[in-house]
Amino acid sequence: MSKPFYLTTAIDYANGAPHLGHAYEKVLADTIVRFHRMNGEDVHFLTGLDEHGQKVQQTAQKRGVPPQQCCDEVAALFQALCVELNISNDDYIRTTQPRHIKVVQELLQKLYDAGEIYKADYKGFYSIRQEQFVLEKDRLENGKWPELFGEVIEITESNYFFRLAKYQDWLRKYLEENPDFIFPDFRRKNVVEFLKEPISDLCISRPKERLSWGIELPFDKDFVTYVWFDALTNYYSASLEKGCWPADIHVIGKDILVPPHAVYWPIMLHAAGIELPKKIVAHGWWLSAGRKVSKTKTDADADAPKEKTALELAKEFGPDAFRYFVMREMAVGQDSEYSEALYMSRYKSDLGNDLGNLVNRVLNMTGNYCGSVSPAATVDEAPEQELRELWEKTERQYHGLAAQLDYRNALDALWAFIRGINRYADARAPWKLAKSDDPADRAKLETALAVMSEGLRLAAVALTPVMPGISSKIQELLGGVPATQFAGNQTWGNSLVGKTFGAKAILFPRPEKK
Ligand code: MSP
Repeated sequence: MSKPFYLTTAIDYANGAPHLGHAYEKVLADTIVRFHRMNGEDVHFLTGLDEHGQKVQQTAQKRGVPPQQCCDEVAALFQALCVELNISNDDYIRTTQPRHIKVVQELLQKLYDAGEIYKADYKGFYSIRQEQFVLEKDRLENGKWPELFGEVIEITESNYFFRLAKYQDWLRKYLEENPDFIFPDFRRKNVVEFLKEPISDLCISRPKERLSWGIELPFDKDFVTYVWFDALTNYYSASLEKGCWPADIHVIGKDILVPPHAVYWPIMLHAAGIELPKKIVAHGWWLSAGRKVSKTKTDADADAPKEKTALELAKEFGPDAFRYFVMREMAVGQDSEYSEALYMSRYKSDLGNDLGNLVNRVLNMTGNYCGSVSPAATVDEAPEQELRELWEKTERQYHGLAAQLDYRNALDALWAFIRGINRYADARAPWKLAKSDDPADRAKLETALAVMSEGLRLAAVALTPVMPGISSKIQELLGGVPATQFAGNQTWGNSLVGKTFGAKAILFPRPEKK
């Protein structure tokens, strides 16, 4: 039996509430797995929470509560977000779970026994915010440290190191020989460039006196595991019960590609004799007024005109509109700008005017002229033939682009078809045909309604991975059961004939006027 298609997202830091960046990553991952499911594949979809490390320890100390309590609270927020956005994850890993801790310790022990981990003294500058040692070369010209490091202190410590450098050439070669390992390709090339400069071994321990909130080293109880070593292992530890390793896709943001996912992770696995994941998909950032969307608010934000966040709009207008907006707006791998105005413009025009209007027309006219029972198409003239041909072209484009993760253009193509159905309706004008007593006009009227409904059904099925709720709703309004796979449901046919349609439905209510 073949293993399920296994997809993961980054696990979110447990030190703040979710925002658009986290939500996007989950929707992107969910869309990918739903395409695979609709293509008949067995899928295992993992997301989760990164609970250890300095930041969680500090937050807990400040609040005077146990760190696990902070994590539990944040886990509840992120899990609620998954439900709210209709994310179909099969598992949710938290790095404080015993199933994970056990695997991290086994991996460490294995690498230690194999001589891949050694102890050494280290004197250097340490960034508290980034939880990492920083180098002289990281200093700014004025001698200060970049703001992103926060407070930087000088320390000497005994620590454990993982032999990363020894695998540098192997990794570079691997990346050159496996062009599909990182998407988009320009990022793989960046990693190859990065690996042309010497890399150092990785410090994988933290002394407990400085950090206690972590996984204890199995060979030295005075230390805990460096949080990235711990966090990356989640993909593997969560896969063991399911037997679905290697991962087919790791979905992550571009900020955590180099070095954690593209350098540490492949080398950790290779050194331990574990198969590498097949592909890493690194998406871009959501920006707001040109800056990365994040939980930290600056003074500039306080002065900025208050606009609703994407997650507030998701609450107000539902998960499917949010999912459509992010998948339609962002080219996977590139950055994209968020604004309330952009969101609302997609909502009103693409969803309200194009899709929502089509649904209303189909339901209203089938109700008014055919007692809500879907008629058969008996006329086949130029308008019908053109629309069918447009569908055939759209179907190829849509699924072809989606297979390349180009959801933005896939949706663009699908919307050209949806607008095509509306144009067909305008051309046939069933509301005029309805006034005629001529049986030939009646045949055209019924044909027009049958053709519009069939087009809508095909578009709704295609939309399943992106807008699962709305897609099901439309298929139900058309008197059917939501399709669970594309096969057999994406060819033009007459499966709706005789079906009883629902009454009116307002899928995308107009925003209330302020
Ligand atoms: N805990 C680490 C990941 C460990 S994976 C073994 C982490 N957490 S995070 O909460 O900071 O980010 C989680 C994911 O959200 C990352 O993939 C990150 O790139 C993504 N995003 C956070 N802000 C983002 C935007 N503004 N835009 C898009 N995604 C970004 O990193």
